[in-house]
Parts: sequence; C-alpha cells; structure tokens
Amino acid sequence: MTDAPKKLFIKTYGCQMNVYDSERMAEALGAKGYVTTEVAEEADMVLLNTCHIREKAAEKVYSDLGRLRPLKQAKPDLKIGVAGCVAQAEGEEILRRMPLVDLVVGPQSYHRLPEMVEAKGKVIDTDFPEEDKFEHLPERKTLKGPTAFLTVQEGCDKFCAFCVVPYTRGAEVSRPVGRLLTEARDLVSRGVREITLLGQNVNGYHGEGEGGAWGLARLLREMAGIEGLERLRYTTSHPNDMDDDLIAAHAELPQLMPYLHLPVQSGSDRILKAMNRKHTAAEYLHLIGRIRAARPDILLSSDFIVGFPGETEEDFEATMDLVRQVHFGQAFSFKYSARPGTPAAEKPELPAEVADARLYRLQALITEQQRAAQQAMVGREVGVLYEKTGRLPGQMVGKSDHLHAVHVTDPSGQVGELVRVRITASSTNSLAAERISA
Ligand code: SAH
Ligand code: SF4
Ligand code: F3S
Repeated sequence: MTDAPKKLFIKTYGCQMNVYDSERMAEALGAKGYVTTEVAEEADMVLLNTCHIREKAAEKVYSDLGRLRPLKQAKPDLKIGVAGCVAQAEGEEILRRMPLVDLVVGPQSYHRLPEMVEAKGKVIDTDFPEEDKFEHLPERKTLKGPTAFLTVQEGCDKFCAFCVVPYTRGAEVSRPVGRLLTEARDLVSRGVREITLLGQNVNGYHGEGEGGAWGLARLLREMAGIEGLERLRYTTSHPNDMDDDLIAAHAELPQLMPYLHLPVQSGSDRILKAMNRKHTAAEYLHLIGRIRAARPDILLSSDFIVGFPGETEEDFEATMDLVRQVHFGQAFSFKYSARPGTPAAEKPELPAEVADARLYRLQALITEQQRAAQQAMVGREVGVLYEKTGRLPGQMVGKSDHLHAVHVTDPSGQVGELVRVRITASSTNSLAAERISA
C-alpha cells in the first residue's frame, strides 16, 4: 500500500531563529513522509513554532489554537503540535489549557519530532538534551531562493532583566566551525548566494575550530572564502561582544554587508543598569563611532524597550537623545512586557498610558530617521540580490546591501542574480531602482 504524502502546515512566530528552526523541523518530518502545505485546512499536521518574548506573542498562540478547533473536530486524526519558546516556557500548561494539542516540543529537542509524531496519545519533550540536535537532523533540501539563514549559536547567558530567552533557549552554545562550513558550502552548491548567520548572541560565537575556539570574525573570514557566496550578514549582536576583530572584519570583507543590528534597549544609564545590560549609553555611542570608522556607510539598526519598570521621563528623554545622536537606518521599539520568571517582572509596572505615549514618540522619531536614511540612498549605486519577481510586469524585487527592499524594472532579471543598480526613488517601505550593469 502506498500512502499519499501527509501534509504539514507550519506557522512561525518570533525571531529568525524560529524561521530557521521551522525549516529544519519540516525537513525532519519530511523524512517521515510529510510535505509542507500553505493551507491549514488540508493539513494532516499543524505545527505552531511559537515565541514567548512578549505577552502578546505568547497569547496569540492560544487564540490561534482556539481557531483550530473546528478543523480538529472535522478531522480527528489531525495532529496539532506546539514547538518553540512557548512550548519550552509553558510545557504541560499548554496541554491543560488546550486539550486539542497532541504534542509539545521545545527548541532544543525538535530533532525528536519524527518519533514524537508516531507516538500514541499526548507527548511532551522540553529537555535540554546532551546530544546536539543539529547532528540528528537530515540535510537541508527545500531552499527558498538565493538567501538562507544559518544558526551558528544558540541560547544566551546574558540574563537581561526583562528577557525570557536564557530560560527558553538555555545556555549559550556555539556550533563547531567544521559543521558550519559544510552546511554553508552545501547551501551555496544549491544556489544560495547570501547567508545570514544567526544566534541570540551571535557575536558571542566561540565555536570549536582548528587550533581552538574561533570568534565570529574568524568564522566570517573563512566563510567569505567560499566560492559563490557573495554576501554575509549576522544577527543578533550584543554591544559588549563587538570586539576589535569583528569591527575590523567590517572594514576588510567585501562580502560582509554594511548593515548591523545592534540592540541598545535604552539610552539611560540608570535603566541600562536595571536591565543588566552591562554598558552605558556613552560606551554604546563610542562603539558606534568605531564601527562607523571601519565602515562609514554602515546602516545601523537597534531594538528599544520603553516603559521598563522605574523609567522616568528623564530616562526616556535619554533614549530619545541617544537615537538623535546615532541616526538609525531602522529600529524596532517595544512596550515593556512583564515576563513570568524574569527579575524585572517583580517590579511595579508603569501606567500603560505613559508607556504608550512614549512608544508613540520614539516610533515617530525612528520613522523619521528611517525615511531620511532611505532618502539618502536616492542617486546612489548599490548591489541588489534578486529574491523574487515583483507585482508589476518586468519587475524584480530584492534586498540592497543595506537591507532595503528594492524594486527594479528589469524584464530580463532572474531570481538569484546579484546586480548593480542606481536608486531612483524612496517610498514608505521600499526603494525603486534601475539596473546599471550585468
Ligand atoms: N538577543 C537579542 C534580542 C532578543 S529579543 C538581544 O540581546 O538584543 C528581541 C527584542 O525583543 C529585544 O532586543 C528587546 O528589545 C525585545 N524584548 C525582549 N524582552 C522583552 C520584554 N519583556 N518586553 C518588551 N520587549 C522585549
Ligand atoms: Fe535576551 Fe539579553 Fe540575551 Fe538578548 S542578550 S537574548 S535581550 S537576555
Ligand atoms: Fe521569541 Fe524564542 Fe526567538 S522567545 S524571539 S522565538 S528565541
């Protein structure tokens, strides 16, 4: 008897590491005969790869699960799984709140998924196993275009006072250099031209390589030597781990793209201290100066939290000041969300209206800077890697070196081509450009 392939629907929440993990989980289940579908209604298995970073993100999972009820009633064999950081943080609680869930798997044990889906009854695995999950996963086969993520480091030992990641992802672990180079070469041999190295603390990378532990800069240099790999990026970095070698790599390596996401969270020393970030605003600004000296056209991005417990108007103004001094090309700002089990959650919260008003002001300033940075690109020549065709005929869409979305009129353009363009206009969320070379 030959079975029709079973269909798997995966929804991914949260950060890029979850995007990477979802791809790997699909591969793992592919070995059990599952093919992915974009349509939840036709799935034999629905997997939610979840995020616990803010309350809203976590609660969204429960409302989405609620919406799966009619599907499960219509198709009792449908398997429903919860993976990722909510799975890790809430474990059995998920089964209690949502009896329709069949399996719960944490981010460090999803290589065990193929066995779990075959188990009868409810299964839960939120271990931090001894074995390296990446060594127990099949090769990557289903690539989506010329760009790929590659997780090089996981977990976090920094314990910022607001953050769940050290609890959901566990302690910092770096994957060995050899494995990463093999995975990168394999990606390139299958058409990938841009790789983004991922880690919760990616610039803290210290994987085992020839002669001992390698830092991120050395790993990037080695990857830059891979024939056909045209672009490298990495995210997310902590300011305290931006060492001289990594800054130098930005000056040295043409493959390393001029864009850096470097979260600062606040511009107030008092709040930075309460957040356990272990640096001051002045130190951050000094670091930005050194990075810009190495790579003058680098576009900087950041994360901010407003309304952290105890944040005064003066603290918030210090954040606004820092933003005014840096001129970010992009930034993400979030209203503080108290997370169970984190030290900050013990402290009294600010009134919601105060935090909302500050968030609004910060976002307005960031939007202004983002528009200015985009506008400043007009007339400039940059590289664009085509990722897909655009909505208009003859249009290609890709990312610039500075990670701007760019629309190019190029009827002969091909997905996967890396071309030189001149930016002609800036609109709300993208740039328009004309191709100037092969
Ligand atoms: N490892 C990265 C960030 C991981 S989480 C780093 O250290 O920067 C991504 C962003 O979510 C954080 O930078 C922070 O701005 C935000 N964030 C994390 N916990 C939060 C919380 N409890 N409330 C609001 N925002 C939060
Ligand atoms: Fe969370 Fe801080 Fe670690 Fe980033 S560095 S993942 S914000 S604890
Ligand atoms: Fe969210 Fe977990 Fe990533 S909490 S941000 S999915 S590491």
